[in-house]
Amino acid sequence: MGGGVGHGKIILFGEHAVVHGKPALSAPLPRGCRAEATDADADLLRVLPWGIDVVPDADADGEHAELQRALSALLDARGSSGGRHRVHHRIRATLAIPAGAGLGASAALSVAVARALDDAEGVERSDAELVEISLAWERVFHGNPSGVDSAMAVHGRVALFLRGQAPAPVEVGRSLFVVVGHSGQAPSTRSMVESVERQLQRDPAKVGKILDGIEAVVNNGRSALRDGNLRDLGQLMVLNQKLLNSLMLSTSRLEEMCACAIDAGALGAKLTGGGGGGCMIALCDSEPLATTVIDALADFDGDAFQVEIR
Ligand code: MEV
Repeated sequence: MGGGVGHGKIILFGEHAVVHGKPALSAPLPRGCRAEATDADADLLRVLPWGIDVVPDADADGEHAELQRALSALLDARGSSGGRHRVHHRIRATLAIPAGAGLGASAALSVAVARALDDAEGVERSDAELVEISLAWERVFHGNPSGVDSAMAVHGRVALFLRGQAPAPVEVGRSLFVVVGHSGQAPSTRSMVESVERQLQRDPAKVGKILDGIEAVVNNGRSALRDGNLRDLGQLMVLNQKLLNSLMLSTSRLEEMCACAIDAGALGAKLTGGGGGGCMIALCDSEPLATTVIDALADFDGDAFQVEIR
């Protein structure tokens, strides 16, 4: 028997721009996915709490086709990088974060599964290899992932991420309390990424400027995080949200949730992840303020929760 975990994440600054080679600043969630693997006659993945069982199939086209294709891609990627693919396993994975919410559930699931298999087989591998294996899975779901979700699922620490590079650890000068609220809408990250790609092709000058603006926000955000300057961080979140909204990545519900959090005292708020629904985050300077913001967001019944980032 082997076990492994994958971390969920929030993106503080830089989603979407990171797909186009800009940096992103991301923080891990204390929850994500845990998986256990036991030897079996054939490979089978059970995903809880959904109660879904899938077998790997590169050509699947049924109800859980993407999950089947992703599992097949992950097993192939392991096989070509030192896993003993011929040994079969029954894998039981338990997700503690919602899928389609921008919290990196899919990458967390892939990393937990890959780690459980490695543990069961006694395979040691580098973080970079694990990220590559997770990316094989992520490409099935997301088409053109930047890799930030996979890197965060593996590393699980606050980091500056640049496509194709190992995440660089980031100093956090003062603890932040971030409230995460779910809009209840579950868009596909793939379609949001494709929409930005289309906009970029249609108007490269305008969209390029927006992406440059996001890059500046990320770089300033990194300094503000290091200096523990929460007021600046909050303003940068508001600015990042405006830039994301100008790429048509926000929704009226996300806008209402951000406004509600700021009215309740949050220093700033923005969507996190792919947008088009999913989750928003709100910055607070204390735990009691985070509790107040969670209470205010209860009207949106999205089970808001808080994360301490340090
Ligand atoms: C998803 O968590 C973040 C996006 O930037 C997509 C990606 O980086 O692959 C929207």
